[in-house]
Formats: sequence, C-alpha cells, structure tokens
Amino acid sequence: MTSLADIRSTFLNYFGKQGHAIVASSPLVPRNDPTLMFANSGMVQFKNLFTGVETRDYTRATTSQKCVRAGGKHNDLDNVGYTARHHTFFEMLGNFSFGDYFKAEAIAFAWELLTKDFGIDKDRLLVTVYHTDDEAADIWKKVAGLPDDRIIRIPTDDNFWRMGPTGPCGPCTEIFYDHGDHIWGGPPGSPEEDGDRFIEIWNIVFMQNEQFDDGSLKPLEMQSIDTGMGLERIGALLQGKHDNYDTDLMRALIEASADATSSDPDGPGNTHHRVIADHLRSTSFLIAEGVLPSNEGRGYVLRRIMRRAMRHAHQLGGKDPVMHRLVPALVQQMGAAYPELGQGQRLIEETLLNEEVRFKQTLDRGLKLLDEELQNLPDDAALPGTAAFKLYDTYGFPLDLTQDALREKGREVDTDGFDAAMAEQKAKARAAWSGTGEAADSAIWFNITDESGATDFLGYDTLTAEGQIMALVVDGDRADHADGAVQIVLNQTPFYAEAGGQVGDAGTLRTETGKAEITDTKKFGEIHVHFAKVTEGHLHKGQGAELAVDPVRRANIQANHSATHLLNEALRAVLGDHIAQRGSLNGPDRLRFDFSHTKALNDAELAQIDRDVNAIIRQNSPVETRIMTPDDARGLGAQALFGEKYGDEVRVVSMGRQEGSGKGMGGNTYSLELCGGTHVKQLGEIGAFVTLGDSASSAGVRRIEALTGQAALDHLRDREKILFAAAAELKTPIDRLVSRIKGESFKLKEALNENAQLRRELAMGGGAKDAAPSEVINGVAFQAQVLSGVTGKDLPALIDEMKAAMESGAVLLIADAGGKAAVAVGVTADLIDRVSAVDILRAATPELGGKGGGGRADMAQGGGASAENADAAIAAAKAVLEGLK
Ligand code: ALA
Repeated sequence: MTSLADIRSTFLNYFGKQGHAIVASSPLVPRNDPTLMFANSGMVQFKNLFTGVETRDYTRATTSQKCVRAGGKHNDLDNVGYTARHHTFFEMLGNFSFGDYFKAEAIAFAWELLTKDFGIDKDRLLVTVYHTDDEAADIWKKVAGLPDDRIIRIPTDDNFWRMGPTGPCGPCTEIFYDHGDHIWGGPPGSPEEDGDRFIEIWNIVFMQNEQFDDGSLKPLEMQSIDTGMGLERIGALLQGKHDNYDTDLMRALIEASADATSSDPDGPGNTHHRVIADHLRSTSFLIAEGVLPSNEGRGYVLRRIMRRAMRHAHQLGGKDPVMHRLVPALVQQMGAAYPELGQGQRLIEETLLNEEVRFKQTLDRGLKLLDEELQNLPDDAALPGTAAFKLYDTYGFPLDLTQDALREKGREVDTDGFDAAMAEQKAKARAAWSGTGEAADSAIWFNITDESGATDFLGYDTLTAEGQIMALVVDGDRADHADGAVQIVLNQTPFYAEAGGQVGDAGTLRTETGKAEITDTKKFGEIHVHFAKVTEGHLHKGQGAELAVDPVRRANIQANHSATHLLNEALRAVLGDHIAQRGSLNGPDRLRFDFSHTKALNDAELAQIDRDVNAIIRQNSPVETRIMTPDDARGLGAQALFGEKYGDEVRVVSMGRQEGSGKGMGGNTYSLELCGGTHVKQLGEIGAFVTLGDSASSAGVRRIEALTGQAALDHLRDREKILFAAAAELKTPIDRLVSRIKGESFKLKEALNENAQLRRELAMGGGAKDAAPSEVINGVAFQAQVLSGVTGKDLPALIDEMKAAMESGAVLLIADAGGKAAVAVGVTADLIDRVSAVDILRAATPELGGKGGGGRADMAQGGGASAENADAAIAAAKAVLEGLK
C-alpha cells in the first residue's frame, strides 16, 4: 500500500524534477493575510507572487501545505466525524507557476502524475472546465485524449476560483474520479452531483485575473498556475478506500484513540474516534505553532476544537484525560514531514493535558445540566439560548460543542437566544465598567471593541504580519481617513501593548496608500491601540496593512524583561524570601525593578546578584511558556504579584535550571512567573546583565536599575575607559591605581597641612608666639593683630598657639582677605569667668560691618565686610576690657 507519506513525497519529487522549488509549508497562522484566520489552501503563502508585488528566486514551486478549516469563511468543524471527507486539518498538495508555465504544461503535469506515477485508470477520470474556456478543453483533448462527454463545461463560480472577495483569481479545471456505479451520484453539473460516486481530486486554477474592491475584474500582467489536491482524498483513492478516515495515517490515529480508551475502533464509538483523530491533528499543529487555548480569536478556535474532541473522548467512557496520550502516535505518523511536531511534543502534550484536566471538572456537570434541560422540553424543541449560554458561561461549553452534543440526539440550539444572552452579558459588563469614571474617554474604545472584537495578538511569535484597519481615531473622534497623528485599531497585530511593566512596541505600518510610524501601543480592554503618525500619503479604514515591529527595540525590551525575571529570582536567593515585586519597567534601554526590602544593598550583594543572573543566562536554555489556571501555576511554585487579579488562565513563563529549586514540572526550574509579556526564546539572547546600583524608591522599597546585552557591555566599557584615563593620568598600571590614589591623597593631605602651617607662620611674621606686643588692660594681657595671607579657617589654630604662649590673656586676630574680615577672639581658661571671648567679639565685629558672630567663652569667631576698620574693631575690643571691674 502506498502510504500518505509516500504519496506526499512522490508528489513533491515529481514537481521537484520538473524544476519546481520544494517549499516548506507556511505556518497555519498566516503572516501575510489579515483576513484569514488560518491558511486554508496552498496558494496563501504565494498570494503576492501572483500579483507581482513580491518576487522570489524561483518561478515554479511545489508544497504540501498545512491547512485548517475551522474558523472564518471555510469552516468544516461541524461536519467532521460524520462525513467521509471533512477535516479541520488537512494537507493540500500543490504546484505553482508564477508567470512561468500556464495551462498546457499544468494540465500535462497533472495528467502524467495521476496516470503514470500514481497509476490511476484513465477511464475513471473526467474533468470540468469553465464554460468559456475552450483553450483548456482543447488541451484536455490533446493531452489526455478525453472525449467531449468527459470534459464538462461548468458555467458557475464552481469553476472560477477566487481566494476571497479581492485578490488573484481565474477559471479553473477540476479533475474527478469515478468510483463506479455501485455508488450513488452523478457527474459534476448533473442533478446528482452531490452524491459520492464522482469525487473531485485536483483543482488547477489558471490565475489570470485580479478582483478589486469595486467589483471590477482586471487581467493580471502574468499568467500563473495554482493547484490544490487534498492529500487525504488522493490517499484514499490510491489506497482503494472511499473514506479519507480509512487511509493509513488516519487509521493509525483512530486505532491509537481506540487503544487509549480501550474501545473498538469500528464499534459504536467510531464517530468519536474519527473526531478525535481529526482534532488531534489540528490542535497539535496549532499548538506546535504557538497558538494556545484562550477565550478569543485563534486561541478560542483552538479551545473549541480541543473541547469538542474531549467531549467525544469523554463519551467513550474514559475517566482520565486521553488526548495527550495520542500525541506520540501523531508524531510517529507525521513528525518526519513536519519536524515542528516532534520539537513541540512536550508543549502539545502538556497543553492538551492541562485543558482536558480543566475541562473535565465541568464537563460532567454540564452534560448533566444539558440532559435535564432536554428532559423538560418537548421532543423536537430546540435547546433555549439561555441554557446554551449557561453551558458556555459556567461550564465552558463552546456553542458548537453543545450543538455537536445535540446533533447525536437530532436536536438543535436556539442560536438567536444564545446571541441575545451573550449581548446581554456584554451590556452588563459595560455598564459595570462605566461606573469606574473613566467611561467618557473610553466610550469610543468600547464602541470600537463592540464592532470589531478583540485584537488578536500575534507578537509572541512574529514581529511582522498583516492586519486590517478596523478603526481610525483622529483628535478623539472616529475617522475614515487619516494623514497626521492617529490612533489605529487592527483586527490582529504583532505590536505588544504596554502591560505588566513591559513598554508598548513601536514600528511601522504600510498600506497601499500610505505609511505611518507607530510610536507606542497601549491596551484598552481587549483591543490594542496603536499611536501613530502618518508620514506618507494617507490611511483609510478597512485597508489591509503590513505591520512591522521595530525588531531591535523589541529584542532589547525582551532581553530586559527576561532579565527582570532572573533578577527577581536572584534577589530572593541573595537577600531572602521576603522579596516581593513592587513594580517594574522593561524598556528598550534599561530595566527597573522595585521590591520590598528595608536595607540598602552592599557591593557584595550586588556582585552576587550579577553573578547569579549571568550564570543562568549562560545556560542558554529555551524560555518556555505554558497556559494554566493561576492555582495550578502557584502549585508549581510560580511567582505571582500579590493582590493582582488574574483571569481563569494565565501564561506561565519558565526560565533556567536549578537543581532542587522545587519549581516547575520537574522541580528544577530557576524562575517561574505568571507573565503576559514577551520574552527571549533562548536565555543567551539576553547576552549580559549588569546592575547599575540600588536606591530607595519609597519607604521599605528598594529599586535596582540594570542593563542587558550591548548596553551592559557598553556601560562596562565606558567605566573601563574612565579607569584607563585615571591610570594614564597617574602613570600607573590600573591594578595599582587604588593604592596609588590612597598614597597620593595621603601626601596631598600632609602637604596641605604643612602649607597651612607655613601660611600662618608667614602671616604672623615667623611665629604666633611673638607676633605682637601685648598690653595689659585692667589686669588682662591683650594682644591684637591684623593679618593678611590667611583665611578665617587658619585663625583658630593661630589663636590656640597664641593663648598657649601667653599663659594668661586675651587675643584678637583679624584676617584681611581682600577687604573682607574674618575675626577670632581667644581668652585663656583662667580668665573666662571675668571676660568671655564672645563679648569681645560682639563688640568688635559691628565695627567691621558684621553682625556679631559667636562661639564659646574661650574662643569665638565672626566676620564683617570692612577689613579697613580693623583699628576701630581693636579699639572696641579694648573698650570691653577697660570696662571690666
Ligand atoms: N487554490 C485552489 C484551491 O484551494 C487550488 O482549490
């Protein structure tokens, strides 16, 4: 039997030999199409090559493209499990020509591959062409020798393929296989065409037109080819099966499901196994790409598919979670063609397990409620919308899960009632919110959210993406156009909106008519608001826009944010478990972290923190993110912000290894934190970490600022430069710099002392002792002198010397410093009962234009502005002594 893996490689190799580049599947989450939730055909990644907007170094390509049809326009979710050919995940094989070959070669390739390489019986093949496409019909006749009755002309859009309301398109030709008259059905275009006898296997699109907004259809400059063949369909055909789920790959997954639930793969639970097998593929591929279950956007589609599968697993009777146990079988089947499955295996298993454990907590009770509701209703009545809403809101049942559960009983849900209940809940939430007082400003954002829904954030995995402009706000009002300062809301964005201490992203936005610089991004409720300035042309609402986050800025922000997590942990290790985060700021240039701690950090502590953080950075292990409930996260030892309100589920970021930490799944995770921010993929990207020091932020809260990456190295280099400059100045090697500076400053101090002494001596004419003759007034020896070349600071030492030399007496010194006077008075201890230095000083300073001064009885100092009145001051001092009794 030819396995699906063989068919995939035969297809790719066939076109490889025909000069086609074998291109890897693009991600399921399209980077280049704002209107698509998931890649749903092979041409999505080549969209811009058909229109000529983009060129690559090949003009022929072939792919096996991962596709998901479970949301948006193409949604096959409801039918999966109940039909032979519906899947939420499938692989589309395709060959593409970008202005290279056209109809004749495309048809010839397809015919040769099907009839020669795959060996399909020619007589069972027939084709359709667009009714006016004589050229294609003629080629089929010539290449395949098909008679006219097996070339069916179809006048409808079935044979004119469009990727969407706008974009490249063209007539197509489809190849059908006739399974034989034992199966009911008629050829395409006949009244019985919906039967299963004639099955379309390959669609070849002649890309020759472009569809525009205004309804016009214009010829493309290049004529191109886009083809699509579902691997599961061609696989069924080549394996002689009529049902895609009977092919080897799908069968292996169905058997894994039967094994895990100890049930019969072909028994009454067969539908459950089919759903499980299909949903295992779509959920695993989405998780491998970083889509994680959430309550909005793509994450909600993932959750819907997961829970739908989990209900089916539950119906098979197993008590324990099942889905994660099937992942090894999937990796075995598809891991070789899609290495991301093997690489992401752990994340896929954990995510499935967490979701199933969690959903099982409400699943039983929800199903019981559903049964009770149904028992109270007439047999064929639809389930009231309020009941479906309660199942959604309280028991976590997505609407389609409830519908799926009812389908088995032939019942439906009143979806209008469900929508009304949902609208009522939103209105209540809004009313509650408007009570907070911020409502006036915020009304506009609420209106936008109501219209366009939450912004899907793509920036955990990509920095570039396309988005659709849902709203423009200019000067506080909604606008259709913008050509200056503007706030922009998009349906999806790679721009992180400021939260959790991480600053908002900046970057550029381009549309067909203009360009804008985005300077900041902030979150309002569930939408990201991009603060921008249009720098070229203009923007208008509804346009598709290419978005590019400034990658260097984001990389620096991420390095700082990841380093903050490591710092938080290192602080706890170095200072103790009392450390609690009190705030943080992760910008492009530095990080700041506030934490509860009462003492300043010393150098040794800061050095230890730097060492710890850098040691973890050097481990260069991958940073891992998981989604779980806050309780589960705390159970694993995750750090959460005290008093912070977390939703039902949180992102948990783990970094680094440390034996015996007790944290994380294996009990050896270094840092584990609840965090919605973006982080480096590998710790080595942080590069380096250096604290700039610690300061007080507020009472009991310290603040550390730090640098990472090149900024950290630049900082160290700048410091080193200063060191080298100092060493050069002192002409000493840097390792002797400190002792040299100590030596030099000791010498300097000595020299300054000596210098002061010399100045004093000089001023006193060789020595204070015999400076001036003393006179005796009222029995008190008194010396007075006016000095130049000394300052007020020199006077006390001179006074002391003079007092010592006199043994008993009073001294007055006036230093004349450029007209200003400093005055000091000293009285020997034996005399202070009779006369105070302060009194003498206070008599003298007014004469110098001063205001007194002060001191003790044995020594007082003051000053004045007029040193020229020194004689009068001396006379006033003498008068005090003369007045003594
Ligand atoms: N793009 C074409 C399709 O999806 C081939 O059918």
